[in-house]
Amino acid sequence: MTWFKNTLTKSLNIKYPIIQAPMASAASIELAAAVSNAGGLGSLGLSYYKFEDILSDYKSLLRKTNHSINLNFFTHKNPKKNDIQAKKYMNEMQKYFSEYNIPIIPNLINTTEPFNSEHLELLLKMNPKVVSFHFGLPNSNYIKSIKQQKILIISTATTVKEAKILEDSGVDAIIAQGFEAGGHRGTFASSYNEGEIGLFSLLPQIVDATSVPIIAAGGITNGRGIAAALMLGAKGVQLGTAFLSCPEATVHPLWKKALSESSEKETRITKAFTGRPARGIVNRLLNDMENKKDIIPDFPTVGSVVKPLAHAAAKQGKNDFLSLWAGQSAPMNRNVTSKKLVELLIKETSSILKLYKNT
Ligand SMILES: Cc1cc2nc3c(=O)[nH]c(=O)nc-3n(C[C@H](O)[C@H](O)[C@H](O)COP(=O)(O)O)c2cc1C
Repeated sequence: MTWFKNTLTKSLNIKYPIIQAPMASAASIELAAAVSNAGGLGSLGLSYYKFEDILSDYKSLLRKTNHSINLNFFTHKNPKKNDIQAKKYMNEMQKYFSEYNIPIIPNLINTTEPFNSEHLELLLKMNPKVVSFHFGLPNSNYIKSIKQQKILIISTATTVKEAKILEDSGVDAIIAQGFEAGGHRGTFASSYNEGEIGLFSLLPQIVDATSVPIIAAGGITNGRGIAAALMLGAKGVQLGTAFLSCPEATVHPLWKKALSESSEKETRITKAFTGRPARGIVNRLLNDMENKKDIIPDFPTVGSVVKPLAHAAAKQGKNDFLSLWAGQSAPMNRNVTSKKLVELLIKETSSILKLYKNT
């Protein structure tokens, strides 16, 4: 029995249990296609897409691969209006707009819509092998329709409680997202503090508490990490940060530079860029907002205000307002193509697991 054949690889119809994380705006169709063609599961994060672009990009992706693909959506709740908080936040941000001579401060507007009936209709039309959700699940009628069409459903848990909720809702596999993970915390039914659990503790507890295949995510960048996750009971792994240094990732050069210069202590969880906790490399806005969390409006409005600042500063070569999403293992990233990365991950995992074969 090889390490890479199990219930998860069978149901997803993939050769290796290695999933490239669906990183909204950072994972391109080239990245997803390369990973799927190399035997893993390529994913497309669709949350920041214009609705009308989804189908054409999906069709382009299908021209690049005929292997399984995962499409990913956010399932957040849009925020209630909070005028007092918004005013305090805008006052705080004013100084940056003055510094960059940007005369008009944009309004707080939703930068992404949660998975809705239009998305559902389109998803059923696209009919991918897998759909994954971040921040919980859409309503049970949507789940029913997706399951009727035999599209596999995956979602993220950051606590055992969330994993049990997902299992009871009928998901086919659960991503256990450790606190090391880059990007947004998937937390949806626990407090953010309760979800601050490292993968080594979270993963085996979720494996023991549920009976669907568990996918480990957070801080995995090489075969050692994959082998450890498998030992802890995972049936697969989902890697995000490791793929950000691949040429196929659509990552700003300043973000790439920050990744290559980062150290293990330089990432932190912040609400500064989107209004929802996410892990990124520390920069000016992250630092400035550290003690002002209470005035940051809820996801997903903040991005509309931060974006013009990110552009203006980046033009001057500064990453001060860019969301430099990255997990705690970013310093172990390798600058290789995504095809090469998947090949390395397979080779490394195989050679480590061989060491233990006869013991
Ligand atoms: C740049 C970036 C963007 C992300 N965007 C998404 C997303 O759109 N949807 C999602 O389900 N997860 C997203 N994630 C989280 C990943 O699915 C995963 O939990 C995480 O990357 C695992 O930790 P690692 O980055 O240490 O590998 C993102 C992660 C990163 C680094």
